[in-house]
Amino acid sequence: MTTTGSGSGSGSGPASGAGPASGAGPVTGPAGGSPRGSGSDGAVAGWPATPAAGRSRPVRSPTLDELPLRDDLRGMVPYGAPQLDVPVLLNTNENPHPPSAGLVDALGKAASLAATEANRYPDRQAEALRADLAYYLTPDAGFGLRTDQVWAANGSNEVLQQLCQAFGGPGRVALGYEPSYSMHRLIAVATATGWAGERREPDFTLDPDAVAAAIHRHRPSLVFLASPNNPTGTALPLEVVLAACAAVGETGSGIVVVDEAYAEFRRAGVPSALALLPSQPRLVVTRTMSKAFALAGARIGYLAAHPAVVDALQLVRLPYHLSTFTQAVARTALAHADELLATVEAVKAQRDRLVAELTGLGCAVAPSDANFVLFGRFTDQRAAWQGLLDAGVLVRDVGLPGWLRVTAGLAGEVDAFLTATRALLAEGATALAPPAAAPTDPASAAAAPATARPATATSTDARPTVELPYLGEE
Ligand SMILES: Cc1ncc(COP(=O)(O)O)c(C=O)c1O
Repeated sequence: MTTTGSGSGSGSGPASGAGPASGAGPVTGPAGGSPRGSGSDGAVAGWPATPAAGRSRPVRSPTLDELPLRDDLRGMVPYGAPQLDVPVLLNTNENPHPPSAGLVDALGKAASLAATEANRYPDRQAEALRADLAYYLTPDAGFGLRTDQVWAANGSNEVLQQLCQAFGGPGRVALGYEPSYSMHRLIAVATATGWAGERREPDFTLDPDAVAAAIHRHRPSLVFLASPNNPTGTALPLEVVLAACAAVGETGSGIVVVDEAYAEFRRAGVPSALALLPSQPRLVVTRTMSKAFALAGARIGYLAAHPAVVDALQLVRLPYHLSTFTQAVARTALAHADELLATVEAVKAQRDRLVAELTGLGCAVAPSDANFVLFGRFTDQRAAWQGLLDAGVLVRDVGLPGWLRVTAGLAGEVDAFLTATRALLAEGATALAPPAAAPTDPASAAAAPATARPATATSTDARPTVELPYLGEE
């Protein structure tokens, strides 16, 4: 199934019936009984009266519908997971390990030093940070990256946005595979780029031939491939990336963006698309310091690509987009990479424990190379989500019927989650759907000969199926 059109994706498109503004009326005029009507002194309710207000006609605050908002944004809701105040938060794929006291101290000193130059604009090109990031990526890439092959911004979301600003836009299309990280679609929509949403195979993998065919069909300017994918945890064999790169080369139409936000959590032997950069001129690999580096609050994302891609992003980035403080914090964190990345093994151990224990409870579990696990299949995943919440555990209902996603937290948090899940299933508050065959593990599929790659699903497949619409995920 394919969904097309800017803003037409599930959960983000205009609400039915939401048309153009019902007359984007003037902000001055009679209050007209609006709940946000003016006071009798002419001030807008909730705002202090100005000297001039006393002499003007009454005004009222405009509603969103009355503002000249772009038509394709009308009816959309802001992105974001519910943030509820419960003891165990396993819903946003954060790294649960806070920085050590030593690192907090080092970050504080770096910020203090940066403050001494706060009267000056930051290095617009973030040269030193990009050099550090190139150095950090080099072992994973297997070749020496240069500064001009790396770009950084405020979180990988901003990197993705800059890619859409530079390569997308009106009349162009971005292609993605759902279920996946919903910001790919939302950023495309926000940059007035059309969206072609193809669906993953029933076991959440991607078929290289199907990907190539979709690229020939849609001729996208951007192809989004997430590896490991959120919310399924599925890593991509390199043959899928190669098939996509070959297809955009044949159509001459686009670039392939492999979103590797969770790359550091992948299992041994699972490749990174970084290794393909020397041979693939249309490939872009995005990464973040929000997950493995446990720096979600610092907002640092980056990419590796050919220098021309970096040149293109310079055309759309805001001047001085990366503050002196952000650059200083990022460089300090990279200098402490060994310490920060030491938490990755602990997170992976909890992830693998979740997979094993949930499987033991009879759940279907998608093999995961990330710091979270997609599990189910519940007859009613909303009831399961609520049951866990009632037990003080917040997981993510990603809008994928039957499935929930849980982040690999600290051992005690995972204990609490497993206890609550066991109780939930024992109480019968929600049942598991009839057992299905285990989802294919792409890690072993990647290692297997091509003929052993899972076949495209048919209606008789016992493997779990993905039912759209999918509401999206962070
Ligand atoms: C697949 C994927 N890409 C990118 C991001 C954005 O990360 P950030 O903007 O924090 O770097 C996320 C966040 O959850 C994600 O899941």
